[in-house]
Amino acid sequence: MRKPLVVGNWKMYKTITEAVNYVDQIKGALPTPEKVEVEIAVPTLFLQSLVERTATSPLKIAAENCFYHDEGAFTGETSPVALRQLGVKHVILGHSERRRLFYETDEVVNQKVHAALNAGICPILCVDETMKRGQSHGQVAWMVSQVIAGLKGVNEDEMARVTIAYEPSWAIGSGKVAATPSEANEGCYLIRQTIAALYNDQIANRIRVLYGGSVNETNLVDLMARSDIDGVLIGRASLDPTNFLKLVSIVSASE
Ligand code: G3P
Repeated sequence: MRKPLVVGNWKMYKTITEAVNYVDQIKGALPTPEKVEVEIAVPTLFLQSLVERTATSPLKIAAENCFYHDEGAFTGETSPVALRQLGVKHVILGHSERRRLFYETDEVVNQKVHAALNAGICPILCVDETMKRGQSHGQVAWMVSQVIAGLKGVNEDEMARVTIAYEPSWAIGSGKVAATPSEANEGCYLIRQTIAALYNDQIANRIRVLYGGSVNETNLVDLMARSDIDGVLIGRASLDPTNFLKLVSIVSASE
């Protein structure tokens, strides 16, 4: 079966001192990576320090974004090749906040997916829906269209390095309105079925699909009990190290 993946997404929080203290506090307290993979996606400014501090730890450091060129006159952007050279394995791409606040289109996200794959790092492709599926018949079509557009041109071999994150933006950031485990699993199931249609059942059964959106200790056990959820992308609840460790232990125990 698929090994669970827990990713904390710090977004644009913490100082470098808080970041260093956080990883020093948790890096020796994680379960074996044979049971669960644990990563933290951090602001670009922190990447080198934190990658170096966790080099011999099961804790891995991920990027929150990258550009779709390896180098060039793109002020303020981050090269996917530079991320690989730093030792970063995963990069979050197409997060709903980047689509909404920075106008990232499906086409841009797809270019970033290819740039990450070509650079030798692994994309976590985020797909979204803006309201509960029951309230709008178009939501399924919209989410499926994001999967199709985000993976355009990605070949079967490259799919071994792709992770998808189902992150309904109506559940993000509130800390209250998470998708129910049933809704979350249904979203992940729809994504897996889309992958099966685009590629084949083997790839669909192998790919990890994560859920993100107000994950916390009250819903995580039920989320991880669902067959189509292979892990979680945690925002707010990942900011406190002790709480993050508690969530990791819940996922580890679910195996
Ligand atoms: O990438 C994960 C994030 O969007 C979820 O945020 O605060 O709802 O856990 P949060």
